[in-house]
Amino acid sequence: MTKTALVSGGTRGIGKSISLALKKAGFNVVANYGGNDDAARAFTDETGIPAFKWSVADADACANGIAKIEEEVGPIDILVNNAGITRDGFMHKMDVDAWNAVIETNLSSLFYMTKPALEGMRARGFGRVVNISSINGQAGQMGQANYSAAKAGVHGFTKALAQETARKGITVNTIAPGYINTDMVAAVPEKVLESIIAKIPVGRLGEADEIAQAVLYLCGPNSGFITGSCLSINGGQHMC
Ligand code: CAA
Repeated sequence: MTKTALVSGGTRGIGKSISLALKKAGFNVVANYGGNDDAARAFTDETGIPAFKWSVADADACANGIAKIEEEVGPIDILVNNAGITRDGFMHKMDVDAWNAVIETNLSSLFYMTKPALEGMRARGFGRVVNISSINGQAGQMGQANYSAAKAGVHGFTKALAQETARKGITVNTIAPGYINTDMVAAVPEKVLESIIAKIPVGRLGEADEIAQAVLYLCGPNSGFITGSCLSINGGQHMC
């Protein structure tokens, strides 16, 4: 039976590429998005993939959104926790709102999204959870104490949950992208971005589809023995 995949933040950037790659591979794909209605409408028009709006930083909205998808579309077999934001700033200038927004959206969301999806996966004895982290959760990044902390937390979440779910046929993995050609990276000041690209051995930004293809592999039929792992895709910028 066709498996259903939910991609959070799945209408733009890396998430859009993930949604498209999964659809192309034959999965029944549903995207979640948080705010940009125009982009979501254009995405659905272009791809035929339905998009459901809620904030992944809102626990009740996640539970309700997932219940709605399971009722209208079908049980969620694959969950890609991709949605994320930045509120960059040096620590001495960062306020508590910028801290909380990033921790809630990029880390607490994993709990809010995965818990309701997990119940059905456990009952059916199959599931794939892929969490999108970042090189900056592995290596740290100046101006991103909030983002680096949240993304580092993603790795701990993955490794703990992978142990809990392994016997239930559910794998949980992290992909840690480096600097990818998206709106998020385009927002980095030009001079700073130039200095970052200079440190990427491959000599360029990554493309969103280069992340999507790895997600596809982790969701596919040959990846059942991969769990609790982290795949770094960063052009060699950080090797671990
Ligand atoms: N590498 C090297 N130098 C950096 C730097 C970096 N990543 N970030 C800041 N600096 C330097 C600046 O060039 C500047 O140096 P000078 O004083 O010599 O010119 C100094 O640090 C202070 O920086 P700013 O003048 O830019 O200070 P600011 O307070 O105006 O802005 C900032 C600080 C908002 C953090 C800004 O520097 C910035 O946006 N930096 C980029 C942070 C970053 O990498 N974000 C990643 C976003 S993409 C993402 O998160 C996706 C992913 O997972 C990879």
